[in-house]
Amino acid sequence: MKVISFETVSEVADYAAGEMIKAIKTFVPTEAKPYLVLGLPTGSTPIPVYERLVQAYNNGDISFKNVKTFNMDEYVGLTPDHPQSYHYFMQENLFKHVDIHPENINIPDGMADDIPAFCRAYEMAIQNAGGIDIQLAGIGENGHLAFNEPNTPFDMPTHEQGLTQSTIQANARFFDKIEDVPTRAVTIGLKTIFDARRVIVLATGPKKAEAIRLATQAPVSVNCPASMLQNHEYAEFVCDKAAIK
Ligand code: GLP
Repeated sequence: MKVISFETVSEVADYAAGEMIKAIKTFVPTEAKPYLVLGLPTGSTPIPVYERLVQAYNNGDISFKNVKTFNMDEYVGLTPDHPQSYHYFMQENLFKHVDIHPENINIPDGMADDIPAFCRAYEMAIQNAGGIDIQLAGIGENGHLAFNEPNTPFDMPTHEQGLTQSTIQANARFFDKIEDVPTRAVTIGLKTIFDARRVIVLATGPKKAEAIRLATQAPVSVNCPASMLQNHEYAEFVCDKAAIK
């Protein structure tokens, strides 16, 4: 694990997008591995990264034809066309702007009738794709990754998770009122994240400083899910100055 710090949000995004662009550009599809597999987050932090990926696509620098994506999470009970669903977010911020094949886009289905069966199938699909090459992530103010709230075991695969009050509160800014924020989500697990070959966690702004301190400087603990990445050889916490205490 390493911590990389930059002065500004823009430099954080330049670095993360640059690493992804490099991976997309240099990927050579083979029969055994036809796709570069990206794990993708939502939230406000990765938006500047998506802007740079779209820019690179528009400039003709990259194509998403050989890219397969797995999103980290989705709210239970929101349809894909709900403006606060993560399906909608991904279409608006990335997918509708680039040449990714729709069948290569995977996002947890928060409307699945049988969520446990869906979760098993999602894990299987990641494995069948050869695992995640680069997992991009944000971090919650309480140190969560995707929707793996504090005290989630590190060995959990994709699962349904109840959200903590602090996460509901943090995400209420996107909804008309706090009662509208879903209280459950389908999320890839901490094991799913740990199994990725490379993990890039983005953290910007002072609200993330305590989570970053706990994740990178305190002992590894389920109280701060992101701290498990201290044991991941290729995990990077990419932070702006405000997120470092
Ligand atoms: C949500 C998402 C996380 C994200 C977090 C932080 O809870 N499930 O994946 O990392 O929000 O969001 P933001 O980047 O807006 O601070």
